[in-house]
Amino acid sequence: MELSPNVERIQYAIRDIVSTAKEVEKKGKKLYYFNIGDPDKFDFDTPNYLKSALIKALNEPFANAYSDSAGNQNLRKAIADRQERLWGTKLNPEKILVTTGVSEAISFIAASMAPSIEVLVPSPIYPSYLSYFNFYNINPIQYNNDEKNHWYPDIDDIRNKLTSKTRAILLINPNNPTGAVYPPKVVKEITNVAGENDLLIISDEIYDLLSFKDNFKSTASLTDLPVLELNGISKTFLSPGWRLGWANLRDDDEKYTNFWEAMAKQSRIRLCSNSPIQIAVSEILNKPMDFLPNVKKKIENRALYFVKRINEMDGLSVSPPEGAFYAFPKIEKKIPDRQFVLELLKETGVLFVFGSGFGELGKSHFRSVVLPQEDEMTIALDLVEKFLKKIP
Ligand SMILES: Cc1ncc(COP(=O)(O)O)c(C=O)c1O
Repeated sequence: MELSPNVERIQYAIRDIVSTAKEVEKKGKKLYYFNIGDPDKFDFDTPNYLKSALIKALNEPFANAYSDSAGNQNLRKAIADRQERLWGTKLNPEKILVTTGVSEAISFIAASMAPSIEVLVPSPIYPSYLSYFNFYNINPIQYNNDEKNHWYPDIDDIRNKLTSKTRAILLINPNNPTGAVYPPKVVKEITNVAGENDLLIISDEIYDLLSFKDNFKSTASLTDLPVLELNGISKTFLSPGWRLGWANLRDDDEKYTNFWEAMAKQSRIRLCSNSPIQIAVSEILNKPMDFLPNVKKKIENRALYFVKRINEMDGLSVSPPEGAFYAFPKIEKKIPDRQFVLELLKETGVLFVFGSGFGELGKSHFRSVVLPQEDEMTIALDLVEKFLKKIP
């Protein structure tokens, strides 16, 4: 079979590295998986009221049939209610598309754009965006997030990277891989650039309820410009395996109706996302999330411990995350990040993701989740510390 050249451009460092890890594991080494942002792989679990809602949903009328391609009507209404309740954003349920995780929405966005369009994307970046944009021949132009300024976007760099082909700007807030939570002033500055240059704002807010200090503000609540938001239940409801996300477009002047229709068209060829999950989520989305404060506190405490340990090590430094569940340390020794991660894995069993898998500014960094319990982190970070001493 002749292969599509587009496939060559797919890279997903977070999982690509797992095959090497499995080989190391086969040789009998204990592995410390600090690579995947899945809380359910650690001592976090999907809340029981979600599980009960899913069991109940299976017996609802049409639960086991295909749903509307754009999503179950009750769920779309529940998503609109959620966004208004939390962030004061008024949405038209017709401009909500339920997807199989935010991942599918990213694919719909990239596939709807004309080839050779430029989209400004953050660097470092969650790698799925680079792969999908590259796959569909969209040009992701990376703007700098400034490590010396809490990894916030560098507005001057954004302005410098605008060209006549730029059509959209992406922000990921709270951020994967850095854990940054952007101050409203920074978001506002980005929306100003978008407004002045007629760009669609794409705002990935999948970690919206996971800012440690509750200081996250949704982009659409800070501007009247069109905003395409992405969100889902994988992270805030501790249920990544349920595969449920959504895209919503707030576009009062109907400027992006064609683009929205292009995305909706794609949703039709894949029929629908998982029906019983949609019914269950429509039931729970606006219930009180009593589990959340405890989850956030646990993650924040682990992040604090991780940061303290890393910053005590000779050869590593890290800017403290303010939300989500990642940290993005800098490798200050003269070793490429990929080599650092692979050698560390082979020698100690500790698995991080090499930073260059997260775009240009990811070089000389690695990403770690801050989800493991403190005693597991202690063992792994002791191994990292010992390993570092051997590197000149
Ligand atoms: C910023 C960001 N967007 C999207 C996704 C994909 O999420 P989903 O599970 O909804 O496909 C992730 C997963 O790690 C993420 O970190």
